[in-house]
Amino acid sequence: MKTIVSGIQPTGELNIGTYLGSIRNFVALQKSHPDHHFFLFIADTHALTVPQDPVQLRKAIKSLAAMYVACGINLEQTSLFVQSEITAHQEMDVLLQSFAYMGELERMTQYKDKAQKQTEGIRASLFTYPVLMAGDILLYDAEYVPVGDDQKQHLELTRTIAERVNHQVGDFFTVPKPLIPELTARVMSLQNPDQKMSKSDPNVKSKILLTDSEAIIKKRIRSAVTDSDGIIEYNPASKKGLSNLIQIYAALEETTPEQVVETFKEANYQTFKEALGEIIATHLAPIQARYERLMNSNELTEILDRGKADAETLAIKKVQRFKKKLGLGFKR
Ligand code: AMP
Ligand code: TRP
Repeated sequence: MKTIVSGIQPTGELNIGTYLGSIRNFVALQKSHPDHHFFLFIADTHALTVPQDPVQLRKAIKSLAAMYVACGINLEQTSLFVQSEITAHQEMDVLLQSFAYMGELERMTQYKDKAQKQTEGIRASLFTYPVLMAGDILLYDAEYVPVGDDQKQHLELTRTIAERVNHQVGDFFTVPKPLIPELTARVMSLQNPDQKMSKSDPNVKSKILLTDSEAIIKKRIRSAVTDSDGIIEYNPASKKGLSNLIQIYAALEETTPEQVVETFKEANYQTFKEALGEIIATHLAPIQARYERLMNSNELTEILDRGKADAETLAIKKVQRFKKKLGLGFKR
């Protein structure tokens, strides 16, 4: 069975950066890869790398599960589950700790960035996070992993770990390939186009949440930072703010930035922004309606139980076989 794996941390509310960088790609892949099975999970253990409020975390897990389904994943083709409910993820993490080197983990830019922002109490789990992530992927022998640009380095480390294991014990793990969207690998903040749009940014004006109302969406786009030359042009180097908006437009309309520029070349920024606000709101409306319905029904329980059961069967077998390969245990 060919597989595709991806996960998102249940920290903060989802925004269109996560949507365009990850979820939407995942949904598109299901259509283009009907012969693959998809393992999609809520990476709740990863969330513990920084302090969390338990009540908020529980809520965020449910909300993320609902949003995945609302965004249109095909449940026939997907096992959707919560990472911490399958303890094989933790076991694989521990086993793979012996196949990752300190120097490799020290080079991870996400770790360096996050550690720099904290002065005390940097958790060991923040440092070893990429090993847990490698386990998530290798457990299911993923062929592809759809992620945004910020996860590219973690994917490279996953490949290194897989190759190291394969070298030592013989062909055992599939070496996964990242699938990073061309146009929306890094959706930028609406207020500071030098930074990515981030769930952790406290500035509400920097992002559009998937649950934002039409009025808020339009307001956020209107106040997005652009430039003062007034010319609709696509140039991510010199016109970062405007180009980010053009990319969002092109991704949602499934067209190219050049085509968007062609359509709006006579327009001013305000007209373009109104049109963009409109298409984002139109795109999100059916997702929001499905999300509300799921949040207010029991459907998710059944979906997550089924996803867990399917994924767990595979995951347990893989861990058992790995332990045996490594010479662990006595009888089995
Ligand atoms: P996170 O929200 O950090 O758990 O990320 C979930 C997924 O969304 C990962 O694949 C990220 O690479 C992707 N992602 C998050 N923020 C963005 C962004 N601003 N642009 C593109 N992809 C993103
Ligand atoms: N680290 C990813 C993020 O922060 C989430 C994640 C955890 C993940 N395990 C994964 C993504 C496995 C893809 C595959 O975005």
